[in-house]
Amino acid sequence: MRDATGFLREEYEDIVEKGFDWKLRRLEGPSTPVCTVDGKEVIMLCSNNYLSLSNHPKLREAAKKAIDSHGAGSGSVRAIAGNMDLHEEAEDRVARFKGTEASLIYQTGFAANAGLIPQLCGKGDIFISDELNHGSIIDGVRLSKADRAVYAHNDMAECEKVVKEVSEKDYRRILILTDGVFSMDGDVAHMDRIVEIAKQYGAMTYVDDAHGEGVIGPDGRGIGAHFGITGEIDVEMGTFSKAFGVVGGLVAGSEDLKKFAYNKSRTWLLSGSHPPAVAAAQIAAIDVLETEPEHVRRLWENTNYFKKEIQGMGYDTGDSTTPITPVICGESHKAKELSTRLYDEGIFGLPIVFPMVARDKARIRTMMNAGLTREHLDKALGAFESIGKDLKII
Ligand SMILES: Cc1ncc(COP(=O)(O)O)c(C=O)c1O
Repeated sequence: MRDATGFLREEYEDIVEKGFDWKLRRLEGPSTPVCTVDGKEVIMLCSNNYLSLSNHPKLREAAKKAIDSHGAGSGSVRAIAGNMDLHEEAEDRVARFKGTEASLIYQTGFAANAGLIPQLCGKGDIFISDELNHGSIIDGVRLSKADRAVYAHNDMAECEKVVKEVSEKDYRRILILTDGVFSMDGDVAHMDRIVEIAKQYGAMTYVDDAHGEGVIGPDGRGIGAHFGITGEIDVEMGTFSKAFGVVGGLVAGSEDLKKFAYNKSRTWLLSGSHPPAVAAAQIAAIDVLETEPEHVRRLWENTNYFKKEIQGMGYDTGDSTTPITPVICGESHKAKELSTRLYDEGIFGLPIVFPMVARDKARIRTMMNAGLTREHLDKALGAFESIGKDLKII
């Protein structure tokens, strides 16, 4: 007799044996710069809540008020009966913030990539993708029948070579896909160059700016504003789940893009819309970014200080130029040991190991937070220095 579900345990045990299983840490209370994880007070160095907005009073207040005025849920997908005034207001605010004609909000950033990318290219078309693009882009590509080509990470000469080659073939559409800020390394795509290449060869451009929204560009307006090419990227995709402190995927671009996207993305059409509290908190997050520039400023002050000090100790931080600073340790066991000992000292930084990164590039991926004080940073830096020396990483 076939064992219908035995694989569940077998495969899980295999993951554990290889050391690839996730051991979930529990956050007790809000995500704050200093918070409680598994009963211990820690300095948070691995949250995507870059600007500490998830606990900002204006977001909390807006969410509470929306429950009173609009209820706990939306009751439907947006295409049927779940399109509330709050959802439309949030989209208008995103478009204004991003300087684009229109915007569309999906349930998550993952849903935006998985829903929209396979609609942009199909049979007879081709995707051209950076080799380090996020898994949600990769899954979006996999859902399409289009051909695909990959260029070496951030290598613009190779990107151009591939685009030129495919432009001479008989493809109907060509779409260049890239992360804006790369999530494991904290380096930034050469978006200005990508747009030039695309224009030269008649390709479309799509950037996943999940780690750039609220972080790079003037007042955190993202990668288009960062390079002074607002409105020139065909699809700027981002998320509310990181610097904006809420949840939700966003797509900013033309009115044509918006109408195309919501009529064709199955993840948007066939999934319930955000609860009112979420939409109201999204609007409040944009309000905060437009009126309180100090959060982005502090994020960068903290980032620059931390990066300079940690590099000064002799740590390798790769090509990072953003608040994602990988502290590279070498082999997996070193990164794991460093993370455990940092936690003992009250510093929360998770290890990222093979297969997520190369075997000899295991790291603590630190993510900076605008709400951390110089004292917090010095405490964290002191621990990185003493434990790093002890483990002979530096
Ligand atoms: C680069 C990138 N794209 C997309 C996503 C997915 O965003 P969301 O959390 O909104 O689903 C993430 C989050 O992990 C990400 O890092």
